[in-house]
Amino acid sequence: MTIYKILFIFKGYKVSVEKLYKIMEKHETYFLITYGCQMNLNDSEVIESMMEKLHCSKAKKPEDATIIIFNTCCVREGVDEKVYGRIGDYKRLKRINPSLLIIVCGCLAQKDGKAMIERAPHIDLVLGPNQLGNLPDLITRTREGFLHEVHTEWDIAEPGYLPRRASKITAWVPISYGCDNYCSFCIVPYVRGRERSRPLSDIVEEIKKLAGEGYKEITLLGQNVNSYGKGLPGDVNFGHLLSEVNTIEGIERIRFTTSHPKDFKGEYIELISRLDKLCEWFHLPLQAGDDDVLKNMNRGYTVGDYRRLVENIRSHIPKASISTDLIVGFPGETEEQFENTLKFVSEMSYDQAFMFKYSIRSGTAAAEMTCHVDEEEKQRRLAKLIDMQNNITQKKNISMEGEIVEVLAEGRTKKNPNRYSGRTRGNKLVAFDSSEDVTGKLVSVKIDKGFTWGLVGTQVLS
Ligand code: SAH
Ligand code: SF4
Ligand code: F3S
Repeated sequence: MTIYKILFIFKGYKVSVEKLYKIMEKHETYFLITYGCQMNLNDSEVIESMMEKLHCSKAKKPEDATIIIFNTCCVREGVDEKVYGRIGDYKRLKRINPSLLIIVCGCLAQKDGKAMIERAPHIDLVLGPNQLGNLPDLITRTREGFLHEVHTEWDIAEPGYLPRRASKITAWVPISYGCDNYCSFCIVPYVRGRERSRPLSDIVEEIKKLAGEGYKEITLLGQNVNSYGKGLPGDVNFGHLLSEVNTIEGIERIRFTTSHPKDFKGEYIELISRLDKLCEWFHLPLQAGDDDVLKNMNRGYTVGDYRRLVENIRSHIPKASISTDLIVGFPGETEEQFENTLKFVSEMSYDQAFMFKYSIRSGTAAAEMTCHVDEEEKQRRLAKLIDMQNNITQKKNISMEGEIVEVLAEGRTKKNPNRYSGRTRGNKLVAFDSSEDVTGKLVSVKIDKGFTWGLVGTQVLS
């Protein structure tokens, strides 16, 4: 319990042991709502760990909680609106129970800061991603009556808590934070700050611990994993990290996301093809299949560069499954440029794609561009792209019928206790039946049927 004996020093004030104990005595309960990418999901696991240390238990529903925490995203306008809508919903809970704390963390908190409280005055505390480490102290402070504080300072308050993971089989492990790429459409660098890599030894230590706890699969996380090592002392790069992680006993599968096509070096592909635990899955966001649009997006590669990268991956790793992110209706995107994206997406034959309408993010370079595509046209382009890609995904999945694949069983499905779900090394979702408990095991599954959402199969007993 040494943690409670420490005096927490933060911004010139001190929160003492006794005050933290007070929180514990009150039997606080929390309800956490998460939006956004894996980075945020991982931060939410850190929040869970912090709340556990505060002896604050998890409430089954918001109505039962004494603290409601939002971990937010702001990558597209639609996400912002969803978050504000849900925060608004909880005004009635605050009316019934005025001592309910409403806390907003994450990227939207960083973006909107004080404006959040002006828009929703029932929010008690706002803190950005870099301030996450101060959450336990700030909860205490808020309970003492320091309401409506906003902490969006850039200096990093290291959480110092390992995530409390929902899964016992697969785990996300951050390798870098922030982003330096400034793609012209993207808000992430403005809310997550500059790119910084975690020391290799910290990452390896965390993964060894996970292996000791029985975890089988890890996913290395970063906004641009391929540039890992930038800014670290010595000569450390993504390849060194992969080689090192591949040696950790107990871990059976290693994935990484997100790759940036401009930084994915050929030497990494050769290395990955040699490392047995590295899965044959590559998430390679293309964004657009037209050189002029890519240039305006400040992506740093051409369609030709991207094609060469995919050819290189497929020649070294023939079974590679490739997924992507795409944006339609970027400012100035003509019909012809959109058609170029359609053609290129069809040529790439992706296993899966996440497709979005361009959303204006104020403060980014693209927001200042002229010739914004109107909403109806964006919708039409998106529908056309989704329709085409869904057909490709389905065909690819159908082509796997009859194949025997390795699946890591992640658990039983909710509806059927004999049905398990898991993923192939290529990151495809598989549902299959088994009469024994195979949770956490690698099993052979014969694919019976392919769908757009994934695969259905039968366990093959050896
Ligand atoms: N670092 C990752 C992911 C960033 S956010 C990468 O570089 O790919 C995830 C996806 O959201 C992006 O790949 C992009 O396709 C989409 N996105 C980001 N900003 C957007 C915007 N303003 N409008 C629409 N989609 C956007
Ligand atoms: Fe955003 Fe580009 Fe960074 Fe990805 S690489 S987070 S799209 S700026
Ligand atoms: Fe959203 Fe922040 Fe991730 S803006 S996509 S939660 S880095």
